[in-house]
Amino acid sequence: MVQSIKGRWSFIALVFSFFLAFSKAAAAAPLDKELKDTLADHGFTGQVEASLEERLGRPVDPELADLGRLLWFDTIAGLNDDNSCGGCHSPLSAFGDSQSIAIGIDNNGVVGPNREGPRNQRRTPMAINTAFYPALMWNGRFAALSNDPFDNSSGFIFPQPEGTSLSYNSHLLQAQAHIPPTERVEAAGFSFVGNSNDMRDEVVNRLNAEPNYIDLFGNIFPEVADGDAITYDMFASAIAEFEFTLVFANAPIDQFARGHKKAMTNGQKRGALLFFGKANCVSCHSVSGDSNEMFSDFDNHVIGVPQIVPSDANVVFDGPGQNEDFGLEQVTGNSSDRYKFRTAPLRNVALQPAFMHNGAFTSLRAAIKHHLNVPASVAKYTTDHLPTDLQNPIGPMADVLARLDPEVSTPIALTKKELDDLVEFVRDGLTDSRAKANHLVDLIPDEVPSGRDTLTFESQVCQ
Ligand code: HEC
Ligand code: HEC
Repeated sequence: MVQSIKGRWSFIALVFSFFLAFSKAAAAAPLDKELKDTLADHGFTGQVEASLEERLGRPVDPELADLGRLLWFDTIAGLNDDNSCGGCHSPLSAFGDSQSIAIGIDNNGVVGPNREGPRNQRRTPMAINTAFYPALMWNGRFAALSNDPFDNSSGFIFPQPEGTSLSYNSHLLQAQAHIPPTERVEAAGFSFVGNSNDMRDEVVNRLNAEPNYIDLFGNIFPEVADGDAITYDMFASAIAEFEFTLVFANAPIDQFARGHKKAMTNGQKRGALLFFGKANCVSCHSVSGDSNEMFSDFDNHVIGVPQIVPSDANVVFDGPGQNEDFGLEQVTGNSSDRYKFRTAPLRNVALQPAFMHNGAFTSLRAAIKHHLNVPASVAKYTTDHLPTDLQNPIGPMADVLARLDPEVSTPIALTKKELDDLVEFVRDGLTDSRAKANHLVDLIPDEVPSGRDTLTFESQVCQ
């Protein structure tokens, strides 16, 4: 008797759970269909990562990339002897900054929350996926004129003194790698006497004086093995090759677009529909055409980010109070471009500890909410959550708000649940798990070919 009651109950439970599963699937089906159709309408395929080598026209060279990795972490290319690409582009924050505003030369040798030293002007963006960016930097000032970073046929444009002189490089990242060692506040320091070409010459002089580098370059470039000097172009191609290995564009949204419906949670799916719909994010964070599915139109807009002012900076900020960042105007000289910044590409965005060009926000939710009602976000903004040397009165905001891009000038009301979904989508739906710190930590070398001390990497908590 007891047996049969138990049996009956379990039969009922079974039927009930079938019913639940069925109704869940029935609820998911329209959501899946709506998202699938939305992605198709926006031309999103989830296949951009697979296009890398085809667009390069060759396979990525693992040996050259590994040499680039060693250079990334070696202070030999920093003429001030205390910084490398990795000091700012940290693998523990998706190859972006560990800070709200970059600290370059005269740092304390730490990469992470306890990094100290004079500030530069902006936050270091992630180097991950930059292989697909047609315009680099927060104001897009290094750009492929073809709008395709793999295509140099129309030239690559940089501010003076480089201009279009780097257009012989086959990819925009090879051209870009000519710049950081020439930036005095980032790596070169103020004591070296000479122009950008002199600095690049000095970097290769250093490499050519180091037998380990002669061997490593010699393994790849036969002319070096035959006794020719290492050139700056070789250095740049190694750095760019390493960056080509930092393509992590297989997030849940990509898997979903390729037909794996379970790759996303229902919350992520609802958030995605808001992103492409009512929340209007896609009007700037676009995924079609030249955007290479990077969630940016690679154009510049004013979205009214609070202007953060460091106590100790080695860059003179803009404006009469030297407490502003004019963004695109710095490049064009046109005052109508004031406060415009490049739409931030959003893949893996949650793996950073701070957001926006100056890290004004340290919570992803606050960074997203800012867009939904910019004046309200600015009115209640404080710097309390920032490191103490950034807890200063913010720069003037009235003129910034007067110039807001029309796409963010009308507040959008979302319910708490909708905002939760939107944040879940941006945080998890756009994150490729290979970009997380626990995967990338292994890229930090224990020692570098020059034998110099390496920087100390601290783990970082992101939210
Ligand atoms: C002092 C810190 C610092 C160092 C060192 C540094 N960078 Fe950067 N990097 C930045 C900052 C800050 C930006 C954005 C600057 C801006 O927009 O004005 C940037 C931008 C970039 C970008 C463009 C990213 C994007 O989203 O468009 C690439 C690529 C890059 N750096 C590569 C490198 C390489 C390669 C090295 C070493 C050779 C290097 N960086 C060294 C701070 C640094
Ligand atoms: C008017 C164009 C525009 C719209 C619409 C827009 N954004 Fe942005 N977004 C930007 C620009 C420009 C930046 C970089 C601003 C800066 O740093 O000064 C940015 C930055 C961000 C960042 C910070 C990224 C980082 O790496 O720091 C996030 C997150 C973000 N947007 C999400 C969204 C979401 C979600 C929506 C929809 C609610 C949205 N954006 C709508 C232009 C836009």
